[in-house]
Amino acid sequence: ASKAKNIYICSECGFESPKWYGKCPGCGQWNTLTEEIQAAPSKFSAPVRNAENRAKAVAINEISTDEEIRYHTGFSELDRVLGGGIVKGSLTIISGDPGIGKSTILLQICEYLGRSLKILYVSGEESGRQIKLRAARLGVHSENLYILTETDIQAVIEHIRTEKPDIVMIDSIQTMNYTELSSSPGSVTQVRECTNAIMHVAKSFEIPAILVGHVNKDGAIAGPKVLEHIVDAVLYFEGDRQMTYRILRAVKNRFGSTNEIGVFDMGENGLQQVDNPSMAMLSGRPVHVSGTCVTCVMEGTRPILAEIQGLATTSGFGNPRRMATGFDYNRMNLLLAVLEKRAGFYFSNLDTYVNVVGGLRLDEPAVDLAVAMALISSLKDVPIKEDALVFGEIGLAGELRMTSHVQARISEAQRLGFRRCILPANCLKKRPVSDCEIELIGVNTVREAFEALA
Ligand code: TYD
Ligand code: MG
Repeated sequence: ASKAKNIYICSECGFESPKWYGKCPGCGQWNTLTEEIQAAPSKFSAPVRNAENRAKAVAINEISTDEEIRYHTGFSELDRVLGGGIVKGSLTIISGDPGIGKSTILLQICEYLGRSLKILYVSGEESGRQIKLRAARLGVHSENLYILTETDIQAVIEHIRTEKPDIVMIDSIQTMNYTELSSSPGSVTQVRECTNAIMHVAKSFEIPAILVGHVNKDGAIAGPKVLEHIVDAVLYFEGDRQMTYRILRAVKNRFGSTNEIGVFDMGENGLQQVDNPSMAMLSGRPVHVSGTCVTCVMEGTRPILAEIQGLATTSGFGNPRRMATGFDYNRMNLLLAVLEKRAGFYFSNLDTYVNVVGGLRLDEPAVDLAVAMALISSLKDVPIKEDALVFGEIGLAGELRMTSHVQARISEAQRLGFRRCILPANCLKKRPVSDCEIELIGVNTVREAFEALA
């Protein structure tokens, strides 16, 4: 018999190599390469094709552009992130840390989906009894919901072929196992083959499938990144587990934008969508305290107000500590350098921390000014006026740069009762803002901005 060939595969990015590395040459992560037995060519990913079922080229004018069929989930926040609902025949992954609420959201949408669709919920993680108890607590009683506790992917596929449900959920893809492969469940090879198998039935029967994918924390299981190119949409469920807000975000979506987010609140009866995220993000905001500043970010088409907190304190010894939560660490360091060099605010021997409240992760440049204001406010120990908000990008020369969606941001601030808005002067020059009861203060430098706020 020929000897099986072993290869090393990165569980983070799927990089393959005949030899082992401590640091993956593909993605730069440490200790993610694990040994796997090279897979035989997949049965599912390369189905046998004969002359009849071979695809033919079609004239572009003859291709129908009818809207895809979409199923609503009962959560408009989830529908929004999906681009308008679950597309028939699509393959979606919901990913996130353990305990964030992946199983909960899938079970919850079964009640609404089950009104018109037959649902197959495959669980490799929990027993039927556990799922039943949870469903009862979540108010899910649909007669169209079928639970299959199974980890053998071929059995699952067979079940889908014979029962023909309208939608399939797999919780989780890492527990699924293709018995003909010798590698263990959760390995890159297994996870890929199982996903390919699901994709094949999803596409051929036009049954949409939603997979739960665990985030790979220690390299022990293959993360959703190795599946990103196979599936149609990848959603991440984020948020601080200690806090109740959950943010759903698409990092890939063949059927919609990847900018939209959905906001949920985890309570005793499962997840509830948050219809007014700005209000939620600002609830519990401290008043008359230095080191906090409100900004308005655009998440897709929707403006959301967010509170940024900054803290600058004397460093114990050695290198000062820097930490950013919900904001890019390197961007924070860059802003600190700009504040020091261009505006004369010295942070270099201070410990500095930045935190975005509520579990949001902000990567829009317009957040810069609020981060700078929160830090300077802490540095000077001067609170920022509580009825004021700021937005604007900071350039390397310390200049404040033009920001998009000025009108939408201001309207949202006004809706939540803010009285003044500090923004780059350029924003006002280009196009006057209409219908505005808020005082708009255009500023040209970081220092001017702080003076207007303090
Ligand atoms: P779960 O959906 O099981 O997480 P995942 O599938 O992403 O691992 O979420 C479970 C967490 O949510 C758990 O810590 C308990 C909490 N939870 C609630 O607070 N309320 C509820 O109604 C449910 C079902 C779970
Ligand atoms: Mg789960």
